[in-house]
Amino acid sequence: MKNLIEKIKKLKEEKNAVILAHSYQNIEIDEVADFVGDSLYLSQMAKTTNADIIVFAGVYFMAQTAKIISPEKKVLLPNANAGCLMADMINHEQMINFKKNHPNVPVVCYINSTAEVKAECDICCTSSNALKIVKSLNNSKVLFLPDANLGKWVESKLDGVEVITYDGNCPVHNNIEIRDIELARKNYPDAKILIHPECKPEVSRLGDYVGSTSGIMEYVRKSKDKQFVIVTEKGVADRLERDYPDKKFILIKSNMLCESMKLTTLEEILYSLEHEVNEITLDENVRKRSTGCIERMLKASK
Ligand code: 13P
Ligand code: SF4
Repeated sequence: MKNLIEKIKKLKEEKNAVILAHSYQNIEIDEVADFVGDSLYLSQMAKTTNADIIVFAGVYFMAQTAKIISPEKKVLLPNANAGCLMADMINHEQMINFKKNHPNVPVVCYINSTAEVKAECDICCTSSNALKIVKSLNNSKVLFLPDANLGKWVESKLDGVEVITYDGNCPVHNNIEIRDIELARKNYPDAKILIHPECKPEVSRLGDYVGSTSGIMEYVRKSKDKQFVIVTEKGVADRLERDYPDKKFILIKSNMLCESMKLTTLEEILYSLEHEVNEITLDENVRKRSTGCIERMLKASK
């Protein structure tokens, strides 16, 4: 593995490349990553980096977003099969029908969606800024897609805003039930429970903190508590265990694994960078039409 890591680092320098890694990736990928974090942070890094090549250790919509906002850079997705089950729940046609049923209502799209879907939306959001983005629209009604859980969570936090949601979800997070949280409270009464808002809103409501993957990690960094129940993908718990060996982390369920996120390996990162394969390409019309909603989000998140 050491050899592999050295080879990747050398190639990165030779090719002026950066590696962006989501915090659900296999933890050894951090050894070669320039930036590790949540989807908002990684899109901000994709926008501001001076690199010629971005290797995206994440899933397809993340790499595609990087290409939308940095069209002059070569963006590589090391494993071409790394998709997102939630993003796959809505295609362009379904998006158009959703809008047709609710004319003249602004549309917020979660970043976990394809460029074709983003092209039809007014503004994008991530789990870390969804509340801020919906608020910024200053409208009593908002369409939100594809994640119904996140949309309804946002609605529960706002007074007088109706969030009309599309019927999508992340099967990894949607799998958590109220009884799982109640059991964790009973078994770990001293622990803080930290929840990703892709969980059902009735589940999120029971958390001590609800936020993105980076938000959860930041909460732990600032906290004086010693025990935490992690209600999101295992990669977050793995990194917290590595970074805070004196604290205890309990993953809510052993099957909190995003299979797509775990597809990417160091070998594939090396191969894609060496041969510059699995490049993200976009229809220029779609790219142009999807840029606005991401740029508006980046501006509103500053
Ligand atoms: P973050 O916005 O926390 O990175 O979440 C992205 C994601 O896909 C969670 O399942
Ligand atoms: Fe998509 Fe869920 Fe995996 Fe996140 S955890 S990338 S929403 S399938």
